[in-house]
Amino acid sequence: MSVHKEYKKITTKRLFDMKQASEKIAMLTAYDYTMAKILDASGIDIILVGDSASNVMAGHETTLPITLDQMIYHASSVVRASNRALVVVDLPFGTYQGNSRKALESAIRIMKESGGHAVKLEGGEEISESVSRILSAGIPVMGHLGLTPQSIYKFGTYTVRAKEEKEADKLIKDAKLLEKLGVFALVLEKIPAKLATLVAKELKIPVIGIGAGSGVDGQVLVMHDMLGMSKDFSPRFLRRYADLHTIMDKAFAQYIADVKSVKFPDEKEQY
Ligand code: KIV
Repeated sequence: MSVHKEYKKITTKRLFDMKQASEKIAMLTAYDYTMAKILDASGIDIILVGDSASNVMAGHETTLPITLDQMIYHASSVVRASNRALVVVDLPFGTYQGNSRKALESAIRIMKESGGHAVKLEGGEEISESVSRILSAGIPVMGHLGLTPQSIYKFGTYTVRAKEEKEADKLIKDAKLLEKLGVFALVLEKIPAKLATLVAKELKIPVIGIGAGSGVDGQVLVMHDMLGMSKDFSPRFLRRYADLHTIMDKAFAQYIADVKSVKFPDEKEQY
């Protein structure tokens, strides 16, 4: 049983304290009420309404097409299911880059219309004005560096980022800048473990990794990936904690067979 279950609600302050106490932070994504309800009750610290909804919920190849309205729809479903976890919502592509006023408007819509507790933005120095303006309105911001999927067409590949010194130096500089601006936590995606460990040591705010090794302050995975719902996505960092694909496949096949053979419904299942 996790010690932090005794805390009624997870706050940004509580996450900061967890880092000070060397207590690891567990974060997973969710996009709908039913899954979020189970996840929140399990004692998860942070639920991320990720723009990965674009991939796993809508079937898009990238995270770019998802809209602010769609993110608000997913986030409000998750918020209705959450009693304890901190709910962080991704600002989708095109709603904060290059225009800090628009960024603030987008973040305010997320907070007002979904009831989420914080927003997450991808990038460092280039989005610093947007981060500052959102923070100035009292909205907690989580940063995201390393592999930032909204920039996939700039990278051209989903391989590990910041392997070269120049990119690693920029990442460290961006991480320090984001902390200075006031973000409450930082996600580092798909970077060398050594670099992620160094950043986590240098920063006072919690650093949550995905494909960034164990030397950070917490971990995040996409729920559908860790539940083994898809067979065709197997990056090295992914650990599958269940094989729901096989379980669901069997259940669907059994249902179809029962309907066809009139084994469902039976006498007790009718009026
Ligand atoms: O959208 C998402 O799911 C994310 C995580 C991979 C960190 O940003």
